[in-house]
Amino acid sequence: MSTRAAPTDPHTGQSSLEVKRDFPIFARSFGGHPLIYLDSAATSQKPEVVIEALATHLRSHNANVHRGVYALAQEADAAYDGARRRVAAFAGAQPQTTIFTKNATEAINLVAYAWGRTHVGPGDAVLITQMEHHANIVPWQVLCRERGATLRYLEVDEQGELLLEQLDGELARGDVRLVAFAHVSNVLGTINPVAEMVARVRAAGAVSLIDGAQAVPHMPVDVEQIGADFYAWTGHKALGPTGIGVLHGRREILEAMEPFLTGGDMISSVDFQSASWNELPYKFEAGTPPIAEAAALGAAVDYLQTLGMERVRAHERALTAYMLERLAEVSGLRVVGPPAAERRGGLASFTIEGIHPHDVAELTGREGVCIRAGHHCAQPLMRCLGVGATARASVGVYNDPSDVDALIDALLAGLEVFGLDTSRG
Ligand SMILES: Cc1ncc(COP(=O)(O)O)c(C=O)c1O
Repeated sequence: MSTRAAPTDPHTGQSSLEVKRDFPIFARSFGGHPLIYLDSAATSQKPEVVIEALATHLRSHNANVHRGVYALAQEADAAYDGARRRVAAFAGAQPQTTIFTKNATEAINLVAYAWGRTHVGPGDAVLITQMEHHANIVPWQVLCRERGATLRYLEVDEQGELLLEQLDGELARGDVRLVAFAHVSNVLGTINPVAEMVARVRAAGAVSLIDGAQAVPHMPVDVEQIGADFYAWTGHKALGPTGIGVLHGRREILEAMEPFLTGGDMISSVDFQSASWNELPYKFEAGTPPIAEAAALGAAVDYLQTLGMERVRAHERALTAYMLERLAEVSGLRVVGPPAAERRGGLASFTIEGIHPHDVAELTGREGVCIRAGHHCAQPLMRCLGVGATARASVGVYNDPSDVDALIDALLAGLEVFGLDTSRG
């Protein structure tokens, strides 16, 4: 498929990729309403090619990897290692330094355990930010507690942005061993200046880890260009299946690291009392890996690549701008995070005066509009924002402006149920 200009909706002038028909789930309806899915930040829907890749692998190519000499086993090897090559290329990384994990959470834990336990000690600090997902907080809390180190936070300003001067100030203290931060916030939507941050962290002699769970599915990401020591993401948010995540790492660091999990496949040889480790990336993939899931993730990144990630980003940016514009029509609604769509990923978290976010999500759900409510696994950030929860609408390649219109209609209907004014006076 060649890339083409995003068609625009004749009514709104907003962009649409027109790929909804590739996703079979949109044939479903709920309570007579068509499915309007605005929860892609939680997990994405899957195109038929991904579902088919998973099923085809299990149906026709299933065997364990890296141990069989028969033809079927070689097909499974080709599917698994071929998927790794495609996934690595998609993110601008090398296959040998692209490790398959269970999800982004496991990828971050891998670093916290296998790198952190060796390199972080008493008196050291790990620096993260107030906008992190629990997946990029709790592993560092546990590491710091265990090793007698300190966990410090970069603050988020009024606009939902980080302050680079504060990063410089923290690094200047001389005790920071690792800085871990989101590429895109799953609550604020903020796109962080990751390459700039990585350069400052490296200049200070510290190691960087980027949580790219909300970035890789939505914009062009070139891990080598960004230059982080570690970059983690998760397959199920990127049109792939659950059960597979990705960690890209810097070769020298990965080679020097001890393994995370141990057992089969990650060894080169085993004696009664000791073992030696396999080469990269297998050293970090103990046990039978997610083979069918890798094949399906390969299909997912192929699909995204065919759409073109510049085009995906342009589409989601336009849709987010439209969503922000339309949300502003709802009385008492406050969006958190950067005001400009340019500075955000494809999501908007918001509160509505007088209605609990869970009620907001429940009311929109009645109209078939799926949005998320809660702390979004970012409780420290909720505390900084002075709220217990927010509602969050997030877009994917399959959304179009009519989905945003349906959200606004559902919100206005919900406000009426609560006897609240429906539009800004
Ligand atoms: C920013 C961010 N990081 C990490 C994760 C964790 O992803 P997973 O549950 O697939 O490990 C999420 C998922 O919501 C996320 O939004």
